[in-house]
Amino acid sequence: MRRFALQSLLFIASLGMIASAAFAKVTETDFGKTKDGVPAKVFEVTNKNGMKVRLLSRGATLIGVDVPDRDGKLADVVFGFDDMAGYESKANGYFGCTTGRYANRIAKAKFTLDGKEYKLFANDGPNHLHGGDGESLDKVVWDGTPFEKDGVSGVEFAYTSPDGQEGYPGKQEMKVTFTLNDKNELTIDYSAKSDKPTVINLTNHAYFNLGGAGSPTINDHLLTLNADRYTPVDETLITTGKLAPVDGTPLDFRTPTAIGKRVDQLTKTSTLGYDHNFVINRGDAKQGELVEAARLVDPQSGRTLTVMTDQPGIQFYGGNFLKGDKGKGGKSYPYRSACALETQVFPDSPNKQGVEGWTDCVLRPGEEYTHTCVYAFGVEK
Ligand code: BGC
Repeated sequence: MRRFALQSLLFIASLGMIASAAFAKVTETDFGKTKDGVPAKVFEVTNKNGMKVRLLSRGATLIGVDVPDRDGKLADVVFGFDDMAGYESKANGYFGCTTGRYANRIAKAKFTLDGKEYKLFANDGPNHLHGGDGESLDKVVWDGTPFEKDGVSGVEFAYTSPDGQEGYPGKQEMKVTFTLNDKNELTIDYSAKSDKPTVINLTNHAYFNLGGAGSPTINDHLLTLNADRYTPVDETLITTGKLAPVDGTPLDFRTPTAIGKRVDQLTKTSTLGYDHNFVINRGDAKQGELVEAARLVDPQSGRTLTVMTDQPGIQFYGGNFLKGDKGKGGKSYPYRSACALETQVFPDSPNKQGVEGWTDCVLRPGEEYTHTCVYAFGVEK
């Protein structure tokens, strides 16, 4: 009798497991190996509205976001590739990756911390960009663990960057967690600890076209940036250390404005178009509190993207270096056909510690770096 009861219980339990597997919101598939032979995985997270987010363990990368338009039609609104070779090719302009250990530029590829100079890889003229060369965070394979809890689901990626990797001091333990809820909000939570003083600036580098990745332009997208000021740059795109007003410039997006309306006024400047860090108006918001930094609207499809963050800055990059290379499904990604909205500390902060109004990027042993960015998708009628 007891044996029968135990068997029945096991049977019922296994049925439960099959049922939960059938309705699981996160699936996992292989995505080939990197050129160094490391296997990578793709996780697909689905919410109850049918919104899907795909995440690749190489670079803890956001490789797909299927969201509905005003008629409920889904389209994938971020750039990416169908295979590992695409991600490892020159056509990959950091599409959707976790960027670091220091996203954006560090002047002359070096900085001094506590009196010691650290040399980094110069991969952008004389400067260091997006964490360096072969072992920047976008190129290494992270450990992904899917989760489903309290009505949300997602993937937690973990990676430990060894002391000295790409020239950065300290062994750095990092986590990047992507969480999708049923309000079509994708939250990215970053955290890191280091065993030596170091510098850090993690971000996500997704390229968005709300008409669907592969649509010809974002010139018609309306952008709002909650920023009265930006950080001007020199000829090599290094911040000058000044905070300048956007008022009266093509960088004034305080009210919704078509990206293409004034972009040509910037084509002959060093940024070749939009490629600027904006100083987010945080008002009275406390440290760690989210504020709305940006809102992007595609009037054609009605899709909207609202970016919220606890960070002080947001880089708006308008795809000036895109050249029509082919991505997912053979679609081409032309000049200025997507934009990145990268929440972060200000560029070149390692060389601007102590400059008035500038941001802190130093992480010391015993401290924890945290950063939250929410990409909230919606529709406008
Ligand atoms: C930078 C651009 C750079 C691009 C590379 C952006 O974050 O602001 O200057 O060319 O990344 O994909």
